[in-house]
Formats: sequence, C-alpha cells, structure tokens
Amino acid sequence: MNAYSPPSLMTFEDQILEQGDLISKKLHLLSLQRFPPNAKKGLRPFTLAEAADFIGISQSHLKKLHLEGKGPLPQTSASGRRSYTAQQMLDLRRYLDQHGRSETRQYVPHRKAGEKLQVIAVVNFKGGSGKTTTAAHLAQYMALTGHRVLAIDLDPQASLSSLHGFQPELDLTGSLYEAIRYDAERKPMETVIHPTNFPGLDIVPANLDLQEYEYDTPLAMSQPNATAGKTFFTRIESCLKQVDDRYDVVVIDCPPQLGYLTITALTAATSVLITIHPQMLDVMSMGQFLLMLGGILKPIRAAGAEVNLEWYRYVVTRYEPTDAPQAQMVGFMQTLFHPFMLKQPMLKSTAISDAGITKQTMYEMDRGQMTRSTYDRVMDSLNAVNAEVASLVHRSWGRGVVG
Ligand SMILES: Nc1ncnc2c1ncn2[C@@H]1O[C@H](COP(=O)(O)OP(=O)(O)OP(=O)(O)O)[C@@H](O)[C@H]1O
Ligand SMILES: [Mg+2]
Repeated sequence: MNAYSPPSLMTFEDQILEQGDLISKKLHLLSLQRFPPNAKKGLRPFTLAEAADFIGISQSHLKKLHLEGKGPLPQTSASGRRSYTAQQMLDLRRYLDQHGRSETRQYVPHRKAGEKLQVIAVVNFKGGSGKTTTAAHLAQYMALTGHRVLAIDLDPQASLSSLHGFQPELDLTGSLYEAIRYDAERKPMETVIHPTNFPGLDIVPANLDLQEYEYDTPLAMSQPNATAGKTFFTRIESCLKQVDDRYDVVVIDCPPQLGYLTITALTAATSVLITIHPQMLDVMSMGQFLLMLGGILKPIRAAGAEVNLEWYRYVVTRYEPTDAPQAQMVGFMQTLFHPFMLKQPMLKSTAISDAGITKQTMYEMDRGQMTRSTYDRVMDSLNAVNAEVASLVHRSWGRGVVG
C-alpha cells in the first residue's frame, strides 16, 4: 500500500483512512518486535529496607526473622544483601499476623465485615494532568502494602493497561465495555479481569471499544421503554458488586474527557482524586471542569443516582517547587481548597517520564538504575502521596492508622 498517492485523486477521508491503516500496521509490527504478544512482565525483587518499609516493621525485625529461620526465605546476594519478592512480602504479612506479638496491629490489611469496598476515581478532563501516573502508582502501592486491588483502565487510549504490559490491539484482553454494554453481548465482570505482574493487583484493561459506551448511552437513554438505559449511572457499580468480595480497593483511571465513562465512574466511586498540574492554564481548565462536573452531577442525582463520596482530594502533579509561578499556584490552591488538597504533592521527575517510556512505573525500577538521590527523591514523593491516600482509605474503614 502506498500512503503517498497523489492527494488530488483521493478524498481527505480516503487519505486519512489509508494513512491510519498504514500507521497502525507499522506500529503493530514494531510492537510485535519490542513486546511480543502475551509477554509476561516480571517484577524485580525488593530490598530488605523496601520490604520492611512496605510491611511497616523495622529492618532489624525483618533481619531477625530471617536469622531465626522464620517466614519466607529471602534471596541473598554474594555480598550478603537480602531481597524479597512482592509475593514474599505478602507472605510475611500473613506470617506476622499468625505469629506476631501485636494484638492490635493487623499486617494483612484486608477489609473486614462492615468495611466498604473503596472505589477511587482519578479524574480531570485536562489531558496530561497525571491521572494515569497517579492511578498506576497508587494501585501498585496499595498492592505492595498488602491490599487486594483492582485497577480499571477506563481510557480507550489504554495507557494504564500498557504500563502493566497489556497491548489492547495485540492481546485481545477485552475491556470494561464488555461488562457495561447495554445489549445481550454483555459479559460477567470476572471475564474482563486479568492478573498483573504485581501480586494483589488485578486489572481491567482498556481498548478502543470503550468509546462505544459514549455513543451507546445516549441511544439507550432515548429508547422509550429502556429502563437499562435510564440507569447508565449504575453500570460500573453493578459490575463491582459482582466482584466486591475479592477486593479492598478499586482504582479507576478515567479518560481526559467529561463523558459518560467518567460520569459512570464517578457515580460508582466512593472517593475521587482530581489531578492538577499547578500552572495557570491548567488550574483555569480545572475550574471549568468543576463547573461542568457539578452541572452534570446535579440532574443525575435528581434522576436517582447516588453520588456519595466519603472524600475527595486535589492532588498536585508534576510539581517543581523551584518554579516560582508553580509554587505560587500551589499556594493559591491551598488558600482556596485547603482541607481538600493532599498535603503531599507529586514532584516532577524525569525518572517518572523515562520509566513511562519503557512502560514501567517507579515501583518497577531498581535503585541501581539511576542516580540514588534522584531515585530517593521521587520515591519519597510517590510514597508520601500514596501513604496519604492509604490513610484516607483506612479512615473510611474507621481505622486509625495505616497498618
Ligand atoms: N511526576 C511526574 N514527573 C515527570 N513526568 C510525569 C509525572 N507525572 C506524569 N508525568 C508524565 O507526563 C505525561 C502525562 O502523564 P499521564 O499520562 O499520567 O497524564 P494523564 O492525565 O493520564 O494523561 P491523559 O489525559 O492523556 O490520559 C506522561 O508522559 C508521564 O510520564
Ligand atoms: Mg491517562
């Protein structure tokens, strides 16, 4: 096929169709070479210090367990450094709960009877505001700290899926669309859930089919007798009910638009994170987003939707504290929204964007792969943001401290 046919002989539509076809075929080949289909992503081991941090015990306690031959056996390098797999970190939690001395501390933080499934929607219609980065690191952090997590990629562009090694065009893993569609083809939720390379973290990947939901919903609502169409806002909620007992936390990465997908996610959510890059234009755009969102949610609530949030927070992303206008913008937002801002901002770091290029998150990167100070700075920032969200989750369950 030749993409460079003389324009005069082809209409614009014909040309873009041909060029679209050409580009996806070429990219398909490129992806096949770089990421073979169904290639399983691995996960690096975690150092003793990291394992102790994630579990919430001292390094000496963890060392002692090993020396006494208790709990899972770490790998030991030639230089005597111990490391644990993510699965071993979960096993250690179980071991500590069974053999620990603490009566009050619960190392396996799964929710108990009466504690509601926490559904966190990450939203902002501004593209590139850090939604996917925030959602991916939060979901992985919650899994690494012992929670049972389901990540839902609701963006047809499938960035969260690709960070977890899913390639919608090659892997044919389906998407949430299959579980929320209006017709008889609808499938049970469990069929669209897949495990990831992080133990404790499952994902519902995305693909372009999700976009159909934006077209199907107004059609379904316009049907005179279509009761299913009228209740579009309960569709994700009822999917989650099917798997409620399998998870503690659900993290939904929303698309950068205020369409039916985002609204349906918000009506299923128990909490919301609004990502915001602290620059004038982005904050102005967020103001518009809030006005539009409020304007949409009001009639939906009047139509019977329950939007019952336990909490919502603005999270500052890609923050450069040395950039005076950004620092000023953060100050401005703090003045306006103080109790609703996460105390910890997510710092900007090329480590995050570089990791993203190789379809990795920071939790997959080894400290040896980059300058230590760079690594430590970004990990401290990510862990602080995620720990704050984990505290909000635990507070929703009526627990005092994260544990
Ligand atoms: N803290 C950060 N430091 C450096 N780069 C970042 C940071 N957070 C996100 N990025 C980069 O910024 C870009 C946009 O981030 P991300 O994909 O998370 O935004 P998004 O809101 O999900 O975008 P979209 O609206 O397109 O879905 C990505 O290339 C990502 O790697
Ligand atoms: Mg995104």
